[in-house]
Amino acid sequence: MLDNNFNDIIKEKFSGEVFETVSRVADEMHLECYAIGGYVRDIFLYRPSKDIDIVTVGKGIELAEAVKKALGKKTKLSVFKNFGTAQIKYKDTEIEFVGARKESYERNSRKPIVEDGTLEDDQNRRDFTINALAICLNKDRFGELLDPFGGLKDMENLIIRTPLDPDITFSDDPLRMLRAIRFSSQLGFDIEPETFDAITRNKERIEIISKERIIDELNKIILSPKPSIGFIQLDQTGLLQIIFPELVALKGAETKEGVGHKDNFYHTLIVLDNISKKTNDLWLRWAAILHDIAKPATKRWDNKLGWTFHNHNFIGEKMIPGIFRRLKLPLNEKMKYVQKMVTLHMRPQVLVDEEISDSAVRRLLFEAGDDIDDLMTLCQADITSKNPEKVHRYLRNFEIVHQKLKDIEEKDHVRNFQPPIKGEEIMEIFGLPPGKEVGRLKSSIKDAIMDGVIPNEYDAAYKYLVEKARKIGLEPKKNNL
Ligand code: CTP
Repeated sequence: MLDNNFNDIIKEKFSGEVFETVSRVADEMHLECYAIGGYVRDIFLYRPSKDIDIVTVGKGIELAEAVKKALGKKTKLSVFKNFGTAQIKYKDTEIEFVGARKESYERNSRKPIVEDGTLEDDQNRRDFTINALAICLNKDRFGELLDPFGGLKDMENLIIRTPLDPDITFSDDPLRMLRAIRFSSQLGFDIEPETFDAITRNKERIEIISKERIIDELNKIILSPKPSIGFIQLDQTGLLQIIFPELVALKGAETKEGVGHKDNFYHTLIVLDNISKKTNDLWLRWAAILHDIAKPATKRWDNKLGWTFHNHNFIGEKMIPGIFRRLKLPLNEKMKYVQKMVTLHMRPQVLVDEEISDSAVRRLLFEAGDDIDDLMTLCQADITSKNPEKVHRYLRNFEIVHQKLKDIEEKDHVRNFQPPIKGEEIMEIFGLPPGKEVGRLKSSIKDAIMDGVIPNEYDAAYKYLVEKARKIGLEPKKNNL
């Protein structure tokens, strides 16, 4: 039984014009009608609830059409005949209507054979007990909770469990295996052992699911508060090897002549968790996942240096388009941003290790541009070690570099650096045609500014340019000062 507190919350969550209309129209049509799925679940989890799913016993589309009529002109209705569903958009609210269905799926396909059923049939075919709760919207039973599989109890115990035998639930729609792990990671729930074992058993069935649906779930795992929870379960069940083998390849720590290296899989997960405490940005989190992705490909044993991973940042940058294409992630500026983060991810750390010259800091600012703060966040998240003393020392040095970056940026404004003299102007001054010479003169100005030889100002750059040009026998044809 629900306590009064929940009864009040339910009343509040199902109040207002939309629910009143649905309830009245359903009664007029003599249709049983329930709210079900995520909207109901999130009420009990005190999460903000979004889209509303409504299930009727029979005639889902007809009910949606009648509700649209009753709500008036401002309502948008979309009907998906093939799926037997209809969607209404009214002000900020989105409601999906569906007629209750029997458990009836074609094997090897996600396309359901729509067969009318009772509410119980419909609850049976849902993914998890916590998503199968229904609340009646008909007037005489308004607010009544129907929880045939103990979803409420599972919520109290923080458990993800399928309503039916998990082998059946997962073979109906194998995406649910990823959804189980996604809910576990998002909500901090445990997957009940039988359900978990069934994921391991059925993992290969994920191959029939479209890449688009898979990446949606993977991105939700990545955006969860502690994404490592999801990734560890993806790995334990064997799903990760199928959908993202490059990440599994990071596993393991080899030792030679008593020298080991860190396990880059667990290191990557720590970096991902670290960064997730600082940002909700999906792409910066992707940069954390991919920052060491080329370590297996670049791993070498050097008799003097031990284990090395030379150029793993550059090779990693090159691996990213292939990974993004396969996973159906966007091949646009988001990908370029992730590539840039991966290429540059060691640069601030190098500054920490070496003596920090102004010139190196300016170059880093120039290359990172407006993404410098994100790069520093990634770099800080990358400081992981079992030795707290070491972490502490690194973080302290890192702060020094951060401060230096701020100081130089304030002084020199090189973040969005544009050379004060452009190529066309150099051609005009010396009467030169386009060519290598112009390019060389232009970069010599950039280098002089980066190295602090001249300030980032027009006059100084002009004088420097004329001097440089004279050394190669060029005289200005006009004076631009
Ligand atoms: N559902 C299901 N099997 C799936 C997807 C969805 O049984 N593969 C059911 C569940 O009852 C779920 C409901 O459809 O609660 C709505 O699905 P969806 O909107 O995808 O997810 P939500 O549970 O609402 O969660 P979220 O909004 O976080 O995705």
